[in-house]
Amino acid sequence: MISEELWKKIDEEEPIPENVKERMEELRKHKANVIDDKWIKRPTMIEGIRKAGVVNTGVLDFISDRIHDGMSTQEIDDLVVQYTKDHGGICACLNYEGFPKSVCTSINDEVCHGIPARRRKLRDGDIINVDCTTIVDGYYADASRMFMIGQVSEERRRLVEETKKCLEIGIAAAQPWNTVGDIGAAIQKYASSKGYSVVRELGGHGVGIDFHEDPFVSHVGRKHTGMVLVPGMVLTIEPMINAGKAGVTIDPYNNWTIYTADGKDSAQWEHTILITETGNEILTY
Ligand code: MF3
Ligand code: CO
Ligand code: CO
Repeated sequence: MISEELWKKIDEEEPIPENVKERMEELRKHKANVIDDKWIKRPTMIEGIRKAGVVNTGVLDFISDRIHDGMSTQEIDDLVVQYTKDHGGICACLNYEGFPKSVCTSINDEVCHGIPARRRKLRDGDIINVDCTTIVDGYYADASRMFMIGQVSEERRRLVEETKKCLEIGIAAAQPWNTVGDIGAAIQKYASSKGYSVVRELGGHGVGIDFHEDPFVSHVGRKHTGMVLVPGMVLTIEPMINAGKAGVTIDPYNNWTIYTADGKDSAQWEHTILITETGNEILTY
């Protein structure tokens, strides 16, 4: 995290643009749910988050080139640590609320927060999500991708591809002055049209100065509800889409890993995006 001092300096030198501030005030008068001014990112902060995004994207590209059948999820963790350090970053996950590793690796029926382990090896036909959050100079970027190992069944391939589509649809809905509910509604509609269900217990989040900021970005919802998307907000969209039912359970031994309750597969893709005055920008490409 950047220091309070630095934040204050940037806030003074780069205040929220007058037109944006006025519209926020107007909306607040009408009882709309508008985020606190302090979470609106200024140009210097956005540049910092963008830099973290470059390293974060580099990490996932690095993994993409090396992931293979027979590899352990610990080896993925090792590669993430190596690349991140070599590029001046820090892995945000390590020790985050006690999380024991530097990246999340979630295979097949694991929805998220899979913990890398030496004995957990990738097998032909597996689908895996690698979720990585990178800190550079105190700024955070968070993204994840799915990887298909060897020959993957048609059902799994379809789940992976349609989940990516869910992320894209969510991003398309994340327009300035829309709401968080518009994102959830769009994803929910698309996922259910494909016969899939959407995980409700976990969602996207504001990000950039801290790992998990306001708002909570649900991947289900109703249009025109929830927090307003204001230019300068940076948030993640990270739909977790289940092949079967939406219900999930948590691992009783490690208290981290989330599984589908019905044992069917789950997929997830994640980007960090910036809401701009004209649309949005993906910071983790
Ligand atoms: N990167 C995850 C997210 O998308 C959070 C992982 S928290 C951890 O929000 F502690 F499990 F790493
Ligand atoms: Co993430
Ligand atoms: Co996230």
